[in-house]
Amino acid sequence: MRNKVTIVGAGNVGATTAHWIAAKELADIVLVDVVEGVPQGKGLDLLEAMPVEKRDVHVIGTNDYADTANSDVVVITAGIPRKPGMSRDDLLQTNYKIMSDVVSKVVANSPKAILIIVSNPLDAMAQAAYKLAKFSRDRVIGMAGVLDSARFRTFIAQELKVSVENVTAFVLGGHGDTMVPLARYSTVAGIPITELMDAATIERLVQRTRDGGAEIVKHLKTGSAFYAPSASATEMVEAILKDKKKILPCAAYLQGEYGIDGLYVGVPCKLGRSGLEQIIEIKLTAEEAAGLKKSAAAVKELCAVIGV
Ligand code: LAC
Repeated sequence: MRNKVTIVGAGNVGATTAHWIAAKELADIVLVDVVEGVPQGKGLDLLEAMPVEKRDVHVIGTNDYADTANSDVVVITAGIPRKPGMSRDDLLQTNYKIMSDVVSKVVANSPKAILIIVSNPLDAMAQAAYKLAKFSRDRVIGMAGVLDSARFRTFIAQELKVSVENVTAFVLGGHGDTMVPLARYSTVAGIPITELMDAATIERLVQRTRDGGAEIVKHLKTGSAFYAPSASATEMVEAILKDKKKILPCAAYLQGEYGIDGLYVGVPCKLGRSGLEQIIEIKLTAEEAAGLKKSAAAVKELCAVIGV
């Protein structure tokens, strides 16, 4: 049986997610958007790349959610992106309206799907999707930690002039200015980066990671990052479809873990065929725990504004 993945939103993030998924031959793809013509055009264009890439992937673009029926995974990227000077939080009201419309249509057509939320502000949108979908928490997961860790890993590899393959990193908390990159659990070939760099250097890389989204927005001027966000969402899709039991930092609905209850926050998660299969609780220092609490408070504030 072939897997079916729907991607909602045929903008840069959605279309590039389709590209990575097709390139990895993970699933047949439905690209859906409200804009007439864009998903159809991008979907057909990607389909026509498949003979060259030697991938047997069926891709369609559509405005009709009937085409998305019975998807295994639905990646939701719909929403407006940031412009320079805007924070992710400035997108809250507009993207909540879009999320409400999208989730009802997704759920009606794919009641068994696993949802991966990519729209910003990430944690609040994941919480909104969870409440709107009324799915169990294992089937609504937010993408942010993979992206934030990827940025941290990039900067660590650049700084130490080592292969990115050697670098692992963990970033917890919300996908925003309060995210919590964990230097102690970030390693180069198994060696904690705290053994390899001084505190000031680590702090500089941590801050660049926190500002990583804004750095790209500043360059692009008309939108936000899409290559790394879509690659990150794809890693989650792959972990789920291949039942890899892979531990990745994701936004998950906490029910008491890390002392947080009833809120989406980024934590280490095990992803497999049933979605979020386990939340891994690691011991945090007092400072890290305080950082996570602060981050959770920021997410909670946003959720309160939209009442989710
Ligand atoms: C970023 C946006 C997409 O971090 O949240 O690039």
